[in-house]
Amino acid sequence: MPTSAARKQYDADAFESEFETDVVDGLTRADKQLSPKYFYDEQGSRFFDQICELDEYYPYKTELRLLPLVARDLSRILKDDYSVIEFGAGSLLKIRPILDWLRGVRQFLPIDISGEHLRDACASLAVDYAHIDIRPVEGDFTQEVELGKTVGKRLGFFPGSTIGNFTPQQARDFLATAKQTLGRDSYIIIGVDTKKSTQILHRAYNDAAGITAKFNLNILHRINRELSGNIPVERFEHYAHYDTQAGCIKMHLVSLDKQQCRVAGEDIHFAKGESIHTESSYKYRPDEFIALAASAGWDCEKEWLAEGELFSMFLFKSE
Ligand SMILES: C[S@@+](CC[C@H](N)C(=O)[O-])C[C@H]1O[C@@H](n2cnc3c(N)ncnc32)[C@H](O)[C@@H]1O
Repeated sequence: MPTSAARKQYDADAFESEFETDVVDGLTRADKQLSPKYFYDEQGSRFFDQICELDEYYPYKTELRLLPLVARDLSRILKDDYSVIEFGAGSLLKIRPILDWLRGVRQFLPIDISGEHLRDACASLAVDYAHIDIRPVEGDFTQEVELGKTVGKRLGFFPGSTIGNFTPQQARDFLATAKQTLGRDSYIIIGVDTKKSTQILHRAYNDAAGITAKFNLNILHRINRELSGNIPVERFEHYAHYDTQAGCIKMHLVSLDKQQCRVAGEDIHFAKGESIHTESSYKYRPDEFIALAASAGWDCEKEWLAEGELFSMFLFKSE
């Protein structure tokens, strides 16, 4: 599996110092916050895989069930040779139906911030798709990622409703940048979670086994591990709530006490009940998302709605 040519020269020192700067900045401001991209160290990626197994977490299973139908339809539309670029690739199960149905896929470049996890997933994929040139790209898709020379047209793939972690404005910016990265005559396939009953959403982000809570709290463990922190993690609690007006799940870590700790040599203070905002997950009606993508220069070619309108997928073409 050729891995080195396309992989961005990943600068671990730059990542570490950006992590430190973002964390100290995020924990010392009045409205404390941490970027969800920092959930995904090795342990965080494993917790996310466990979340995907949960009955309550419908987005993963619903999209996975929809994908063979999507891939079959795509095979009737996408007839050229392609390099597929996946944003936020994770464990690489969702790309399989696409690779099974699209005959013209020559290269596959999955981008993920969680490098070890990505390389392991690519090694498993390569066993079953030896005819495809698989090039893992460890990098941050919110920044420009160097892909190197690719074969054929570029086809983006962004499943998992990871786009929902952006605000609508950030999602528009991401789509505009993706259009530049993918170039002329490109397509992108995107999975987007839909607006639905608050009850279903609350269950999905507050599972009975407490795995989402562990995933959320792991960001504090990571800070302690990597930034010489002494945050008393057991004195924080997971909280996730659907904001119907914003159409968004907001995930927080709430301090159970007034407390003080140190991170990267800085004093951090928490009032009792003060929270750190760790993730937003925006939900869209299909027409809302199509309009958002259009404002970033992407025309909707086809849309798919899963049973019960639980999840949506789209094929967009660059204008
Ligand atoms: C919600 S998971 C989705 C995983 C997979 N695509 C799926 O649909 O099951 C988000 C994935 O995006 C990766 N990720 C999150 N923020 C990222 C960023 N800024 N740059 C690159 N990868 C990122 C995480 O490591 C994780 O694998």
